[in-house]
Amino acid sequence: MPIRIAPSILAADFLHLDKEIEMLNTYADIIHLDVMDGSFVPNISFGFSVLEPVSKIAKIPMDAHLMIVHPEKYIERIAGLGIQMISVHLEAIRDQGDNPSEMLNYIRSLGCQAGLAFNPDVPVEECYPYLKDCDYVLAMSVRAGFGGQNIDPNIYSRVKTLKAEIARQGLDTPVQIDGGVTILNAPELADAGVDIFVAGSTVFKATDPASVIAFLRAAGRVPLQEYNSAL
Ligand code: DX5
Ligand code: ZN
Repeated sequence: MPIRIAPSILAADFLHLDKEIEMLNTYADIIHLDVMDGSFVPNISFGFSVLEPVSKIAKIPMDAHLMIVHPEKYIERIAGLGIQMISVHLEAIRDQGDNPSEMLNYIRSLGCQAGLAFNPDVPVEECYPYLKDCDYVLAMSVRAGFGGQNIDPNIYSRVKTLKAEIARQGLDTPVQIDGGVTILNAPELADAGVDIFVAGSTVFKATDPASVIAFLRAAGRVPLQEYNSAL
């Protein structure tokens, strides 16, 4: 399947968010929306006051990454905004004593794609029982909570292991990674099997975000100098 690029608006210019979304509508594949509650992660980002207006002008699929405790409280309202992809954290669901399969199938029952997210310190094997219940897997490549961190070097082998298990189970589940993606590590990540790249700072801090998105989508298989002016 072709690589898809999901810029995270966490790194966008919130004073001109309409312009940022218009840019993504034209050049990106998915709009990644990082919802943080200051409880599951030690940071607060945004909630419905941002999700609602973004959903009104988005023309490409939106992906809500819920870094929150008790995500079930908000999932129906998020689905009601037309947000097509919703990911929940395995750690949050387990800590509250809930069944990940049930949470994922609840998301599916609302007509959305269900994503299962987990941090770099969660052994990748722990998501295996739930692969059949999700439409994409979100392997965090940094610890969830902040943009602009360096990529966890274990992500390459984790993605390879995950892709092998997905194939072994006879599934075709896309693997999304999130955090620390740059134009330099994108080729190796693509080789490892990443299907969806979430990228915040690399896209929004670039001089020419559209070129960076195109470069990431080509997973670095075009000469870097063609993009130098954009970086
Ligand atoms: C981290 C968020 C990421 C973050 C990525 O908790 O889930 O989506 O915005 O930012 P960069 O690409 O800057 O690492
Ligand atoms: Zn995210």
